[in-house]
Amino acid sequence: MPPPKSEAFLLFNINRMKILMVCLGNICRSPIAEGILRQKAIEQGLSIETDSAGTSNYHIGNPPDPRMILTASKNGIDISDLRARQFVAADFDRFDLIYAMDESNYENILRLAKTEEDRKKVMLILNEVHPNSNDEVPDPYFGGDQGFQHVIDLLNVAVDKLIVNHELR
Ligand code: 4NP
Repeated sequence: MPPPKSEAFLLFNINRMKILMVCLGNICRSPIAEGILRQKAIEQGLSIETDSAGTSNYHIGNPPDPRMILTASKNGIDISDLRARQFVAADFDRFDLIYAMDESNYENILRLAKTEEDRKKVMLILNEVHPNSNDEVPDPYFGGDQGFQHVIDLLNVAVDKLIVNHELR
């Protein structure tokens, strides 16, 4: 039998904000979004949980795209341990905030929502930077290497903003 958990421990875990990053394949944009948030959480001592998923089933079980692993490592971020999974309706129950990288991801996530509470959890991540602009994190998969650094630059700013906007510190 595990020891009984203290009230402080339970409160700590109940209050932890759970944040999910979502893109199409879960091998380029959402894993680096998760990696950036995970790193800032460690550096700043944030009490949060992070995860990422793809709306498609294309790359389930795969590590992030090698081009994103490399570009991330050049930015001091290790995402090589992450593995792709598909977004599921149960994620609405597990997470407090669900961030879509683009409008297509956003629509695909909302298609699985059952309640208004589910829908309210979903937002485009760049709206943290420019509210209501509906800017998208461009998909770097079919482009050149510079697209991967551009994604990291956009997400660095967005993650800083979401930490401030949701008072995670
Ligand atoms: P992601 O990029 O959604 O940022 O992970 C993509 C990865 C794979 C594909 C498309 C986008 N694909 O078509 O396989």
